[in-house]
Amino acid sequence: MSENRRKVALITGAGRGIGKATALVLASKGFDIAVHDIDGTTAAETASLIRQSGVDAESFAADVSNRDAMGAVVSAVEARFGAIDALVNNAGIASDRCPLEQVTEAMFQRSIGVHVAGTLWTTQAAIIGMKQRNAGSIVNLSSIQALVGWSEGATYNAAKGALIALSKGWAKEFAPWNIRVNVVAPGHTETEMTVRNDSAELRAAKAKTIPLGRYARPEEMGEAIAFLASDAASFVTGQVLSPNGGFVIT
Ligand SMILES: NC(=O)c1ccc[n+]([C@@H]2O[C@H](COP(=O)([O-])OP(=O)(O)OC[C@H]3O[C@@H](n4cnc5c(N)ncnc54)[C@H](O)[C@@H]3O)[C@@H](O)[C@H]2O)c1
Repeated sequence: MSENRRKVALITGAGRGIGKATALVLASKGFDIAVHDIDGTTAAETASLIRQSGVDAESFAADVSNRDAMGAVVSAVEARFGAIDALVNNAGIASDRCPLEQVTEAMFQRSIGVHVAGTLWTTQAAIIGMKQRNAGSIVNLSSIQALVGWSEGATYNAAKGALIALSKGWAKEFAPWNIRVNVVAPGHTETEMTVRNDSAELRAAKAKTIPLGRYARPEEMGEAIAFLASDAASFVTGQVLSPNGGFVIT
């Protein structure tokens, strides 16, 4: 692979929402894009949108919690683009909201499977090539729920908290290979995840609790993720960046 090839980003869960917005932002900042999602149709739509802007992109469909499937996706992306320079572990599912007594094994396994195992297996596959090239950047998606806790959100809190701990450990583990690992912990963001979960009235009420007075647009998360994924953040590793409109100020 030539040294002056374009950089390549693999973004999981990029068929819609924050992942899609991140794909578009990274495409505008010089990355070719591997668009992954469990939904092959939306992934293909994101890839097509990027190609229309003159940037190379291709879609890959798989369940992120399936280790073999994600290993195959990583291999296919490397075969198609030559390398993965930036990995964004974004695929996620909405928080289960219920008192602890009502949490089921299925809920817990699904949340840990998609968020934690999904991130772990995808990173495990992608890290091999990154180590060979002594370069790489990984951004994992946590949430403000991991920073301040959320009542009746045990399965999501557990998963998103684990992602911060995993990322801090990996930042130290992979630093000798010049591979950076950071976290974006979004605040309230206007995507299908939040629109489906909460009525317009509830979202308006929640927006009043955010100092900036509104939900984020997905592309505002995309900008933060793209910063950490890119060389602009070349000395940043093991950090949590939380664009949250001032909802969490520590
Ligand atoms: N929207 C928010 O307010 C908010 C806040 C904090 C954190 N987050 C996190 O940001 C990330 C993106 O969230 P979003 O709001 O864009 O959600 P979204 O529901 O709009 O999009 C999530 C995407 O992930 C994909 N996905 C879901 N399960 C998958 C699986 N098993 N395998 C592969 N892909 C799968 C979906 O198909 C979808 O395209 C998630 O990790 C979420 O937990 C979102």
